[in-house]
Amino acid sequence: MKSVALATLLAALLASGAASAQPQQSTGTTAPRPWMNAKLSPEVRTKLLLAAMTQEEKLSILSGWFGSDLPGYKVDPLARYASAGFVPGVPRLGIPPQWQTDAGAGVATQNAFRDKPLERTTLPSGLAIASTWNPALAEQGGAMIGAEARASGLNVMLAGGVDLVREPRNGRNFEYAGEDPLLAGTIAGAGARGVESAHIIGQVKHYAMNDQETGRNIVNAVIDRSAARMSDLLGFEIALEKSHAGSVMCAYNKVDGDFSCENDWLLNTVLKRDWHFPGYVMSDWGATHSTVKAANAGEDQETGYKRAEDFYFGPKLAAAIAAGDVPQARLDDMAGRVLRTMFAKGVIDFPVGLAPIDFAAHAEVARKVAGEGIVLLKNRGDVLPLSAHARRIAVIGGHADAGVLSGGGSAQVYPRGGNAVPGVEPTSWPGPVVYLPSSPLKALRRNLPGATVGFDGGQDPAAAASLAAASDVAIVFVTQWAAESRDVSISLPDGQDALIEAVARANPNTIVVLETGGPVLMPWLDRVAAAVEAWYPGTDGGDVIADVLSGRINPSGRMPVSIPRSVDQLPRPKLDGEGVQEHTPFDVVYSEGAAVGYRWYAAHKLEPTLPFGHGLSYTSFAYSNLRAVLAGQALQVSFTVRNTGKRAGADVPQVYVGPADGHWEAPRRLGAFDKITLAPGVARTVTVTVDPRLLSMFDESKGAWSQRAGAYTVWLGRSARDLPMSTSLRLPERTLPAGADFTSAR
Ligand code: GLC
Repeated sequence: MKSVALATLLAALLASGAASAQPQQSTGTTAPRPWMNAKLSPEVRTKLLLAAMTQEEKLSILSGWFGSDLPGYKVDPLARYASAGFVPGVPRLGIPPQWQTDAGAGVATQNAFRDKPLERTTLPSGLAIASTWNPALAEQGGAMIGAEARASGLNVMLAGGVDLVREPRNGRNFEYAGEDPLLAGTIAGAGARGVESAHIIGQVKHYAMNDQETGRNIVNAVIDRSAARMSDLLGFEIALEKSHAGSVMCAYNKVDGDFSCENDWLLNTVLKRDWHFPGYVMSDWGATHSTVKAANAGEDQETGYKRAEDFYFGPKLAAAIAAGDVPQARLDDMAGRVLRTMFAKGVIDFPVGLAPIDFAAHAEVARKVAGEGIVLLKNRGDVLPLSAHARRIAVIGGHADAGVLSGGGSAQVYPRGGNAVPGVEPTSWPGPVVYLPSSPLKALRRNLPGATVGFDGGQDPAAAASLAAASDVAIVFVTQWAAESRDVSISLPDGQDALIEAVARANPNTIVVLETGGPVLMPWLDRVAAAVEAWYPGTDGGDVIADVLSGRINPSGRMPVSIPRSVDQLPRPKLDGEGVQEHTPFDVVYSEGAAVGYRWYAAHKLEPTLPFGHGLSYTSFAYSNLRAVLAGQALQVSFTVRNTGKRAGADVPQVYVGPADGHWEAPRRLGAFDKITLAPGVARTVTVTVDPRLLSMFDESKGAWSQRAGAYTVWLGRSARDLPMSTSLRLPERTLPAGADFTSAR
């Protein structure tokens, strides 16, 4: 914090009478610091440290400053270059600053520094990571970006986006982990756990119901509380269970009338009371709306402010405490949560500092994630992998000659080697549009030296079609740029559907490669031979796409979202808030409740273009020996998977569950899954346990999960709609309190 700002803050505190007459001046001697004893528990260390702190020191660690210069505001020179935010430390007591960085794809550069960005490794997008259905790999990805954050001098990483894809047009779907709470929570939780392995503070965000960007600062999400607990909130709960992430970011939007960052039910009741969350709640940047209400409702730290007078905490919080509107104990709890987290995560014992980064090793991690996150959607006549017969290959569109697309906004990571396609609008916030310099075209030419690989930019469908007509195979790359602060069309932009149709008419062996932020309509799917969803594939993503197309990698991705046939299949065909005047409050009524995505389609007997969980392989797998038994109180499902094809590959067997009497919001829910790699001809028996919450309904009035006694069906399949095997069994009545420790409760 600039010394003038600190002086302003301090003067205001003193004036409010909240500060002690004189902050304890260091006596010049090295006063003992018992809290630095790492043998003590985080709780004991926090207690010792709090006792040594002055009121203004406690307040100072609860206000975070914006990371970029703005009119009338200069970033404190202590803040890290190009970072998201900065909370001053207390040198007198050995409390380091909190250096905050975005986000889920890696160490981001804030928009104000876009012309001179940090160059860091980019993970594939959140949806690509979720498409791996591989928590161990998601954790490796998180560990890699956590290491880059640490080596960049950053100790709080604002990753872990886990809002459900309720709205396929949400501009930030690329930062999230899909439409199902079990998959999203498992994957985002694994990622956050990986981040924290670097001894920095991880996070899950945006809590909660931040499921669209249109009107994000003002929209009021209306949802039945029990339904929220069984959908969006369950995703957060599982993510926190899997990660024990130290921080939660409360969202911009309202939930049932109260802003998320001053929502007593979300913060105090659900997160801190029911889920026993020991960490701290930070606001999204500028998402704090009050002093007393926010502090008493459970917000612990306000972030992203530019001027001292803008803060709701700081002097205004000091005055509220002095007036008795906020208990002193609450201030000690707020500061204590931050400090406990800093101790628990190693931020104090392992101070961050600038260090070299092994970019080659980190690129390998990004490639591994992309290699398992790319989804083979269709492969008619095994046109893929590209075979020796494909002598003449046409590559069309998507800037495939230059690079691969990435998502925009605060999560934007800038690649080593610079933007491969500079100047694509918008070049300012939430742009610029950044292509990572990894060309699928160049990689295909390397992988297929015996083939002639031509390129057409795709601007003119007729020209593209004539190249396709003269080729054995035509590969059309299509892109959809998505970014924070705005939603997107559900259809591919810039006439790309027409481009695909024109090329498919010219060559039956047309393959479509999608680089999209989220699910897009695919009206041409019946008329192409193959399709691959590569999402935003991250560093070296172009190489990985080529490795999948040429068969060096056997794709194993599975869709974390459904692909609707049209917007008419959605709970809300029209995006709420479209055309609403800026700052005009409006509601989004999530009347579908917990029936999100595939659950909605099944409940309404709608057939999407492609289902949740779908994905093909260059080999094949067969299932057998499905059994479902009660092991104690837990539902245990076992089955055998055999690789019946000619090459090694990984499969994602999925277990869905549902009550025979249909009393849930949908006929079935994903209950468990696994990812297994098998050599040709090899079989393996898998046993999974179904989380009891996924067999229950939550009743907000009772604050508990209740599993109704009766007959339940257990399906085994390859997607939410491809369920070749099933069995059934009776389950007993069972009640579990909200936030029970489900690991032991199994
Ligand atoms: C942004 C985003 C949030 C990000 C923060 C800091 O507005 O909503 O995801 O972490 O501000 O950049």
